[in-house]
Amino acid sequence: MNSESAKCIKVGICGFGTVGGGSYNLLQANGEEITRRVGCAIDIVRIASRSISSGDFNSAVNISNDPFDVVNDPEVDIVIETIGGFDPAFEVVRQALVNGKHVVTANKALIAERGNELFTVAQENAVTLAYESSVAGGIPIIKALREGLSANKIDWLAGIINGTGNFILTEMADKQRQFADVLTEAQQLGYAEADPTFDVEGIDAAHKLTIMASIAFGIPLQFDKTYTEGISRITPQDIGFAKQLGYRVKHLGIARRIDNGVEMRVHPTLIPRKRLLASVDGVGNAVLVHGNAVGSTLYNGPGAGAGATASSVIADVIDIARQKLAGLSEPLLPALGYLSVHDDLEVVSIEEIVTEYYLRIPVNDVVGVLAKISSILQGFDISIEAVIQKELDSKTVPIVILTHKAIEKKLNLAIAAIEALEDVSGEVMRIRVETFEG
Ligand code: HSE
Repeated sequence: MNSESAKCIKVGICGFGTVGGGSYNLLQANGEEITRRVGCAIDIVRIASRSISSGDFNSAVNISNDPFDVVNDPEVDIVIETIGGFDPAFEVVRQALVNGKHVVTANKALIAERGNELFTVAQENAVTLAYESSVAGGIPIIKALREGLSANKIDWLAGIINGTGNFILTEMADKQRQFADVLTEAQQLGYAEADPTFDVEGIDAAHKLTIMASIAFGIPLQFDKTYTEGISRITPQDIGFAKQLGYRVKHLGIARRIDNGVEMRVHPTLIPRKRLLASVDGVGNAVLVHGNAVGSTLYNGPGAGAGATASSVIADVIDIARQKLAGLSEPLLPALGYLSVHDDLEVVSIEEIVTEYYLRIPVNDVVGVLAKISSILQGFDISIEAVIQKELDSKTVPIVILTHKAIEKKLNLAIAAIEALEDVSGEVMRIRVETFEG
C-alpha cells in the first residue's frame, strides 16, 4: 500500500431514507471494489437521521438527528444530502459548501429550483456540488450530457424521466389496471415521491428536465418556465385508441433548441410504437439525445429505487474522491457544463410549439358533427391525418382525430371552437404526438 492509499475519504450522510440508506448499503457491499478503483477507502463516518439509532451501526459511525452535526464536522470531506425538499436541505447544502465540503445530492427539486444559487456558493468556495442521481436514477445521463457529448451542439432531448409515472402508464396499458391501484403499488415499492402528486402531475419530471436542458443548451436553470402537464387525465380509453393508431402513450420531458429559443415541456405524449423509447416500460427511464455530430443516442435503465439511485450517488462520491486525491484545488468541470452560458436563449411558451396532436372529442351521436369539427380544423389550417369514430351503446361517442403538424396556439383556438359546438358533450382531450424523425 502506498502513502496515498493509506488515506481515506470521509463521508457524512444527511437523511437515511430509500436513497441515503441505499447509498450506505452500496458502499458497504462494494467497498473493496471501490477502494481498488479509487486507490483509497471511502468511509462513512457520520449519519444524521431521525429514523435510526447508533445501535444499528458499528462504533466508527457517529449517529445524530441533526444534519448540521454532519455539515459542521471537520472530519467530513463529502456530505451526501438525501433529505429531499428545501427545508432544511437548502441550508444544509449551503452550509456544507460554505464549510468547504463537497456535496453530493439526489435532490432534483433543490437543484432545479435553487441550483443557480447553490452552484454560485460552490464556486465561491472551490468545492463540487454533484447531482448525477437527481436525474433518471441509475442512468449516468448528467455525465453523458456534460462530458460524453460535450463536442456536440445538442438539438433536442426527450426522456421518460419519472419511473412512477411510467410504471402507472405501463400497468394501465398492459394489464388494464386502475390508476390509483398502481400508484399505491409504486409507493410501496419506494419509487414515488413523498408527495406522489409530484410524480403524477409532472413536477418531478419537470425538475429533471430543467436540469438536463440547462446542461444540454448552456442556459441557467429555469424550472418556472418549464411547461408541466401530468398523467392524471389519461384514461385507459386514450391508451387503447393510441394503440389502434400505432402509438404508445408515454409521459415525456422534451427540450428542443429552435431558431428563436428553447422549448422545455413535460406532458403525456403519443410516440410511434416502433420507436425504442416506446418500449421502455415499468419503472424504467430512458433519455434520447440528439447531437448535431453524433446523431441520436439513447440512455436506458432504472430511474428510481434504492440500488439504482445509490449507484449514481456513489459514482459522484468516487469522482470527488479522485479529484481530491489528484490534489485539484478547484472542480474540474463547470457545474452545468458551460463556463459561459447562453443568456440570449429564451424559453418559448407552449403556445409556440409546432407538433402533431391526438384529439378525443366526446360528441352526441348525431349526423353531421364530424363534418362540423373537420370544418373548424380546416378553418385554422389544421389538416387531419386519421380519424376513428366508434359506435358505442351510448348517446355519447368519442371521435378521435390525429392531426398533422400545427402550431399550438391555433390548435387551442380550434379546440375552444369545437367545445362550443352544440353536439360536443364535454372537454376535448388533447395529447401531443412526437415522432422523433430526423
Ligand atoms: N419519484 C421518482 C420517480 C423517483 O418515480 O422517478 C426518482 O427520482
